[in-house]
Amino acid sequence: MKIELNKKIENDSIGISIVDSIPDSIKDISKLLEYKIEDESVLFLPEQNKIFVAFEKISSQNTKVAMAIAMRKLLTTNYTKAHIIIDDFHSEVVIGAMLGFYKFDKYKSKKSPKNLTLNIVSKNIEKKDIVDSQHIANSIMTVRDIVNTTPEDFYPAIMAKKAQTIAKENDISCEVMGDEYFIANNMGAIAAVGRASRHESELIHLSYKPQNPKKKIVLVGKGLTYDSGGLSLKPSDFMVNMKSDKGGGAVVLGLMEAIAKLQLPYEVHGIVGAVENMVGGDAYKPDDILTAKNGKTIEVKNTDAEGRLVLADCLCYAQDAIADIDYMVDFATLTGACVVGVGSYTTGIMGHDDRLKHRMVKSAMNCGEEATSLPFNRYLKKQLKSEIADISNIASSRYGGALTAGLFLSEFVRDNYKQKWLHCDIAGPSFVEEIWGVNPHGASGVGVHMCLEFIKSLDS
Ligand code: BES
Ligand code: ZN
Ligand code: ZN
Repeated sequence: MKIELNKKIENDSIGISIVDSIPDSIKDISKLLEYKIEDESVLFLPEQNKIFVAFEKISSQNTKVAMAIAMRKLLTTNYTKAHIIIDDFHSEVVIGAMLGFYKFDKYKSKKSPKNLTLNIVSKNIEKKDIVDSQHIANSIMTVRDIVNTTPEDFYPAIMAKKAQTIAKENDISCEVMGDEYFIANNMGAIAAVGRASRHESELIHLSYKPQNPKKKIVLVGKGLTYDSGGLSLKPSDFMVNMKSDKGGGAVVLGLMEAIAKLQLPYEVHGIVGAVENMVGGDAYKPDDILTAKNGKTIEVKNTDAEGRLVLADCLCYAQDAIADIDYMVDFATLTGACVVGVGSYTTGIMGHDDRLKHRMVKSAMNCGEEATSLPFNRYLKKQLKSEIADISNIASSRYGGALTAGLFLSEFVRDNYKQKWLHCDIAGPSFVEEIWGVNPHGASGVGVHMCLEFIKSLDS
């Protein structure tokens, strides 16, 4: 999609209007067509070269969705030019439009050739605002592409390659470590999970170091390029779409790309555990006891609770490799329980510092993502006890699974970092089989915009 800032509107361009009441000019026709002001309702009037999207209350978050809806509608038409006249420009106009225009057609024999030029007419608009918005949207689309790609085409080595490409293009440094490193550094948890796969596991470390950074931020992502469940095999219906288990890792890659492109004044490290959880003669087993990088022993009771094992070693690695971390945030499609608890559209935010959790929830609200804070408690923590190891990889109760997974991760966060750490469970919104908000069927890229808002909020 091309974005232009052209005061002149061309004849064959369709005008997009976001409305919270019926404009006089369409009073009659809207009555005829029974068009009402309801959230997300669309009125397409080709004779007038107009498209209307209604919201009961217009906000920047709604504008983002309205633009996406308008673009989705235009994808089904022959229009190649659109314009919007808007008083106060904000980045959501561009981001919403680009996200709505996204199509994943890698596996379609017929590609969608459609392109569109969006002309934004506004008084207070600067080129840099547009370019920054494009960076954000492009990174979200990077995440969608990664997550939507099949496990045959996207396995750990490809994730590492993708990270290296992002690094090369953006003045980021990139280190990739494999099994040899895991064995040499006592990372028994990540090593075990990927053992039955024909693809070697990779730990990816991207570093973005601008001059005079304000703070040091570490982002950690669960990059399960496929989660079959391992020997605790998933039932067939639950295995479908488990290519999306790399969603957290993809968010970290997308964030690194966006942060570098936006030249944010923070030192940011992105760590991704790229692993495939498979079955086979060499698979790790329920009953195994693994030793993580920090020396803690873990009794495996279910090989499908593999993300926390991978993240355990990634978190330990981050704290060993990087000194004086100010904030550490992990992203993971960690538990089905989180989806059961808060639904498909919402990220579960966990951690030990209420204010930090709240900051992340507010950042999500600011950019139109859904997130909610989930509360740890000491009773749930006790459910992770193991009789023969330091901790078990699943809880003794079937309730509160999102929190017990978060509490498991917390065991691998050092005491002095506990208040600086957040865990974002994106199992629900990362991949949804329906169109919702700015998101298409499939991968959403949720987490990128929220975390960018979070990082920007650290200034104040
Ligand atoms: N990757 C899954 C979680 C998941 C479920 C993500 C649905 C997206 C959609 C994770 O590795 C998993 O299998 N978790 C188990 C944990 C259980 C064995 C304690 C789960 O949620 O059932
Ligand atoms: Zn699993
Ligand atoms: Zn998983």
